[in-house]
Amino acid sequence: MAYRIQIAVVVLAAFLFPALAEAVVRHYKFSVVLKNATRLCSTKPIVTINGKFPGPTLYAREDDMVTVRVVNHVQYNITIHWHGIRQIRTGWADGPAYITQCPIQPGQSYIYNFTVMGQRGTLLWHAHITWLRATVHGAIVILPKRGVPYPFPKPDKEEIIVLGEWWKADVEKVLNQAMQSGLAPNLSDSHTINGHPGPVSNCSSQGYTLHVETGKTYMLRIINAAVNDELFFKLAGHSLTIVEVDATYTKPFSTDTLFIAPGQTTNALLTANQGTGKYLIAVSPFMDTVVAVDNITSTGTLHYKGTDALVPTALTTVPPQNATPVTNTFVESLRSLNSKNYPANVPLTIDHSLYLTIGVGINPCATCVNGSRVVADVNNVTFVMPTTALLQAHYFNISGVFTDDFPGNPPIPFNYTGSPPANLKTMNGTKVYRVAYNSSVQVVLQGTAFLAPESHPVHLHGFNFYGIGKGLGNFDPVNDPKKFNLVDPVERNTISVPTAGWTAIRFKADNPGVWFLHCHLEVHTTWGLKMAFLVDNGKGPNESILPPPSDIPQC
Ligand code: C2O
Repeated sequence: MAYRIQIAVVVLAAFLFPALAEAVVRHYKFSVVLKNATRLCSTKPIVTINGKFPGPTLYAREDDMVTVRVVNHVQYNITIHWHGIRQIRTGWADGPAYITQCPIQPGQSYIYNFTVMGQRGTLLWHAHITWLRATVHGAIVILPKRGVPYPFPKPDKEEIIVLGEWWKADVEKVLNQAMQSGLAPNLSDSHTINGHPGPVSNCSSQGYTLHVETGKTYMLRIINAAVNDELFFKLAGHSLTIVEVDATYTKPFSTDTLFIAPGQTTNALLTANQGTGKYLIAVSPFMDTVVAVDNITSTGTLHYKGTDALVPTALTTVPPQNATPVTNTFVESLRSLNSKNYPANVPLTIDHSLYLTIGVGINPCATCVNGSRVVADVNNVTFVMPTTALLQAHYFNISGVFTDDFPGNPPIPFNYTGSPPANLKTMNGTKVYRVAYNSSVQVVLQGTAFLAPESHPVHLHGFNFYGIGKGLGNFDPVNDPKKFNLVDPVERNTISVPTAGWTAIRFKADNPGVWFLHCHLEVHTTWGLKMAFLVDNGKGPNESILPPPSDIPQC
């Protein structure tokens, strides 16, 4: 009897809420395998998912449950992070190694299981251990619920464009060499567009081609999966209309240059409004400080149907490498859609106000080349990776893995963006900043001139935040908040802190668990520019983290 009532309720619910009935479970299998790949005239084995580079696209609809069985067939430990997926109550599926899980060891497997809630658009997945994400990454496409249109004219076609970075050398060796020497790692040899560096003299490589038909509109789902480089993306002869970033809708605006940091995603509409022809697609790096960068522009071709093969490609100029104004114009144009259906729920009161300085420093190292090593820090703490996952330590009350005394303010105030202090030493620690469920958190990320001022794309796991303000120099706690945008600020999961400047973000800590915050330039994460938030459970099961899956890897 009870069983029958249950069935009746389910049928009735499906009838009343068709969206509920549509929510499905999507199963994926990710085999981690080595595969030989040739780029820039040289061949090496790379770690891939299912032999693909970039890896397979994960498709889901809002509200779907997704399971991904990851089977590790390589000699490295691995984890996969679903970058930007909120993972509400399912931190066990988030993926950063030693933060939410122990790695999947060679020969082992783990099933990531999560539900996509309140998000639609483009995100990315990537390996989240050492530098394996250089080749282990791919797109996540979240379609709106069935029957729910995009808040902009429906494009005729959609294309995924994954930008990456390529080393001729084995990337794990590049990392290990840097860790041993204490010096900066070798720069990449090229950028890539959907896996292709583009034509290089004497190497046979066509590069990526985007085929279009005149009169049609295309939605480009652009992903920066590069390891260390913030990038410009530009098309000859065409402008782009930005409609979404990090799986949140924006007020549409038109631009001829897109600026995108590692970990960020951008949906842009392209109208093929030139009769025929070939047009250059250019991807070039942004670096507005003294730090060295891979300065290679990678190219592809936008190719109109019916174009004569001999027609020359229309060219474009790329922004200067240090084109700070171009990045500012782009970033300042980004606004939440803030419509009735997609409101911007910016926290207006603050429970925790944090001021976090970020930068690089130098610590002594007896075995290193110069007797010292480059490190990075948040509020002068260089994060030391634990050997037990923080989430496991938290959930099972294992002491001695981390402390919850992460400082909410710099330990010693100084002129952060002025000339660097004489002492560049940091302290080591595995510290989290602990907040109660549903707290409102404001974080001012303050860039420093430690070693060198530099732009840092900072990523927060488990949440979207609002980017409510930014500026140059040191944050002024009296005057700068007056200029905060609390109406329609951009909502995203990764935001660039300008060189020698600051960015302010706000989020509601409505997701219990342990959530990583770090610079998405992998070189800086490696050096220690990372920390974590611990959000305690709220009341009852709906505000508490779920128990760990039975196959969660052990360290
Ligand atoms: Cu896309 Cu913690 O990273």
